[in-house]
Amino acid sequence: MVRAAGSEIGGHIAIYPGSFDPITNGHLDLIERGAKLVDKLIVSILRNDSKQPLFTVEERMEMLSEVVGGFPNVELDSFDGLLVDYAARKSATVILRGIRAISDYEFELQMALMNRRLGPDIETIFLMAGEAYSYISSRLVKEVFGLGGNISGLVPPTVEARLRKRKGI
Ligand code: PNS
Repeated sequence: MVRAAGSEIGGHIAIYPGSFDPITNGHLDLIERGAKLVDKLIVSILRNDSKQPLFTVEERMEMLSEVVGGFPNVELDSFDGLLVDYAARKSATVILRGIRAISDYEFELQMALMNRRLGPDIETIFLMAGEAYSYISSRLVKEVFGLGGNISGLVPPTVEARLRKRKGI
């Protein structure tokens, strides 16, 4: 558990924000590893996403719950508006994000610096994606599945089942 001096009373709450459309094994790996570093990890789905999602927020929440429902210090939620405002409402001190390849770095750096400017008390912490997951994204999973490719091992089985149901197979 990470504890800054003087933080013994409250403990650290981290937010892992994202679209999770749908959750992949890469996200799951990050949640498992991130949850070990903090007292509470809130995995939170952005509600007002400009991207056209495949699954509704409620469906994504159900899938997350099926996969991480048993983790004792992981909570699920959704949010609107600025991430730093949401994090402050949740008394979070940490934003957790994953970095897969160097191509993620630029966008993540921009977000981390903007979030630091907007909320200087909240620190963004990055975990490197596990090597087995470093090429997996929700977007690619949807594309490959939509074109009939095999996605087993890339997403939890329950997510694969939902994708099949959605496609009527
Ligand atoms: O899974 P994603 O799509 O990469 O997640 C992006 C997310 C949700 C982390 C980002 O879009 C976000 O934080 N949106 C909330 C609105 C906000 O605070 N924007 C300014 C961030 S610099």
